[in-house]
Amino acid sequence: MRAEAAAGRAGGIVGLVPTMGFFHEGHLSLMRAARAECGLAVVSLFVNPTQFGPGEDLAAYPKDFDRDCALAAAEGIDIMFAPEPGEVYASDHATFVNVERITAGLCGASRPVHFRGVATVVAKLFNICRPRRAYFGLKDYQQARAIETMIRDLNFDVDLVRCPIVREPDGVAMSSRNTYLSPEERRAAPVLRRSLVAAGQGIERGERDAGAVARQLCHAIETEPLARVDYAEVVDADSLAPLTRIGRAALLAVAVQIGRARLIDNLVVETAS
Ligand code: PAF
Repeated sequence: MRAEAAAGRAGGIVGLVPTMGFFHEGHLSLMRAARAECGLAVVSLFVNPTQFGPGEDLAAYPKDFDRDCALAAAEGIDIMFAPEPGEVYASDHATFVNVERITAGLCGASRPVHFRGVATVVAKLFNICRPRRAYFGLKDYQQARAIETMIRDLNFDVDLVRCPIVREPDGVAMSSRNTYLSPEERRAAPVLRRSLVAAGQGIERGERDAGAVARQLCHAIETEPLARVDYAEVVDADSLAPLTRIGRAALLAVAVQIGRARLIDNLVVETAS
């Protein structure tokens, strides 16, 4: 991979799309962006064990390597980098990247080791693939902010390209974990987007009390009997710090358990004041 990346860098820009596989339109949109902008387009496929906590879905994470390879090839991806866990982590691996503050709340509060694992593996992928650009989807908004912070703080020569959330026609954000939903649970899943849009409209009508918006968001999700709210919060869109009053750019972020699936979604609301 290093040799291919060095040759790619000599000829132009290397673009990396880090993934855990089981591709859907969201992944393909990142690949299309990388393909359009980079001389060498690399997709990494690695289900990273260090970002899963005990009792999470590491063993159950959906996989279909042959289908993924075919989809990436159809998007014109040059290299699919799919290492084995033992190639990525030495048995006595001892070094981790911890992005502080920005990973403390939201998903970091209920998944304490998650972002340490994400930042560590992304740093490793950057060092192995040496991309100039890396493509991240904004469904995982906190992940994108954490990696932007890591890039700045550790002086990686990488531009993170933020890519918009890709949704199903009923508004559900695409996610490999949607496959965990039964048909009945899948019918309940649009409640996340619906509640976010309604809360965003409240802000557009002039609501500036972040606590009131978060409560509205939570109540709207709880109208769906199959949904259990993990968090429904209104935070600053840059620092991800909790807000009391909504200022320039707020992130409305939710994590909701529906059956076996923990679904996340978000909405950035920008206001003039
Ligand atoms: O978003 C993901 O799929 C993963 O967190 C990532 C960035 C590939 C790191 O394992």
